[in-house]
Amino acid sequence: MKNTMLALAFGALSMNAVAASGDVANGEALAKKYNCASCHGADYKTPIDPTYPKLAGQHADYLKHALAAYKRGGKVINGRNNAIMAGMAQPLSDKDMADIAAYLHGLPGPLVVRR
Ligand code: HEC
Repeated sequence: MKNTMLALAFGALSMNAVAASGDVANGEALAKKYNCASCHGADYKTPIDPTYPKLAGQHADYLKHALAAYKRGGKVINGRNNAIMAGMAQPLSDKDMADIAAYLHGLPGPLVVRR
C-alpha cells in the first residue's frame, strides 16, 4: 500500500515536470519572431536599458508566471501592469509562454545558481 502511494506520488511529480518543461526550440523561434531580444539583449542578460530585466537563466516557472501576469493586465489580482509587456504578451498562448520560458531558462545567465 505504502509503495503504491509512493509510486502514485512520484507519477504525479514527473507529470508535473513534463508539463512545466516547454519546447526549447519552439521557444527560441517565438522569441525571434517577436523580437524579444530587441529590448532584453541578444544574450538576454544585457538589456538595452538598465531598468529592463535580465531574463537569461531565470527560473522557467517565474518567467511563465510573469508573462501570464502581463497578459492578464494590472486590473486583476496577480496581474502586472506594464504598457510594453502587456502588448508583447497578448498574442502568446499558455504553451507559447512555457516554451519561451524554457528557452530563456536554458540560456547562461547570472540569475540562477547552478549546482
Ligand atoms: C520594447 C521593449 C521590450 C520588448 C520587445 C520585450 N520586452 Fe519584456 N520587458 C520589457 C520591460 C521594460 C520590462 C519590465 C516591465 C515591468 O516593469 O514590469 C519587461 C519585462 C519582462 C519580463 C518580466 C521579467 C521579470 O524579471 O519579472 C519577462 C518575462 C519578459 N519581459 C519577457 C519578454 C518576452 C518573452 C518578450 C518577447 C515576446 C519581450 N519580453 C519583449 C521590455 C520589452
